[in-house]
Amino acid sequence: MNYFKYIGGWPFYKIEYYICHSPRLPALMFNLILFGPPGSGKGTQSEKLVDKYGMVHLSTGNLLREEIANRTPLGLEAKKFMDHGQLVPDEVVIGMIDSSIEHHKEAAGFLFDGFPRTVAQAQALDKLLSFKGSEIDLVLALEVSEEELVHRLLNRGKTSGRPDDTNESVIRKRLTVYSNETSPVADYYKKAHKFKAVAGEGSVNEIFAALRQAVDMEMAS
Ligand code: AP5
Repeated sequence: MNYFKYIGGWPFYKIEYYICHSPRLPALMFNLILFGPPGSGKGTQSEKLVDKYGMVHLSTGNLLREEIANRTPLGLEAKKFMDHGQLVPDEVVIGMIDSSIEHHKEAAGFLFDGFPRTVAQAQALDKLLSFKGSEIDLVLALEVSEEELVHRLLNRGKTSGRPDDTNESVIRKRLTVYSNETSPVADYYKKAHKFKAVAGEGSVNEIFAALRQAVDMEMAS
């Protein structure tokens, strides 16, 4: 596989230069992935986790919606996929994450929300962080039943203005895409012993307490 095509299409010599000359991120970084299907509470819990631990929140969904709001060519292209519940191509989201990591050189860690969503994205993220002398520390996966997910998203669709929340068939398509294309990412991190499932039903504060406990345990280890 031509792996490097995923890293912003950079030629090999440029990547080699980057590895040798890029300033490393601080040694005490903590990098967390909040994983889970659409509507599982990743955005809700990310806000609380970022508030508590001070990582930089990187949500590819939010970044893409900003591009759409600014009517950039990237946003207009991405919208075609998002409105149908499909994934935006890997090169696009990996390029966005690459720029965001570069933009936050002094970060004490990152919380990735909605990324990675494919194994190729997970591999690229490992590579991008390793260029910085860093890695993913923990993947926390929110587990929520399908009917609860559909209920939450239709409910949010009444006020969110998100086109992908208003139509039940698009919501179900997002869940199918998650099951087919994103759930293999869980196995990728299980093999690396970085994966932990957390019950995603209950009150927001109960779920936050469980996530906090998992983060604190990992930080202490
Ligand atoms: P993205 O924006 O990432 O959306 P998503 O994964 O579909 O997730 P949501 O934002 O819908 O849900 P969430 O898990 O954040 O839950 P939330 O906290 O909001 O992606 C959108 C699209 O962009 C994708 O379909 C794809 O096209 C594209 N995209 C994004 N990243 C990509 C990538 N890496 N690669 C390729 N394409 C990509 O909560 C949901 C609702 O539930 C809210 O109303 C909330 O108030 C409520 N809620 C939260 N917690 C609880 C609780 N405990 N009890 C009851 N209700 C709750």
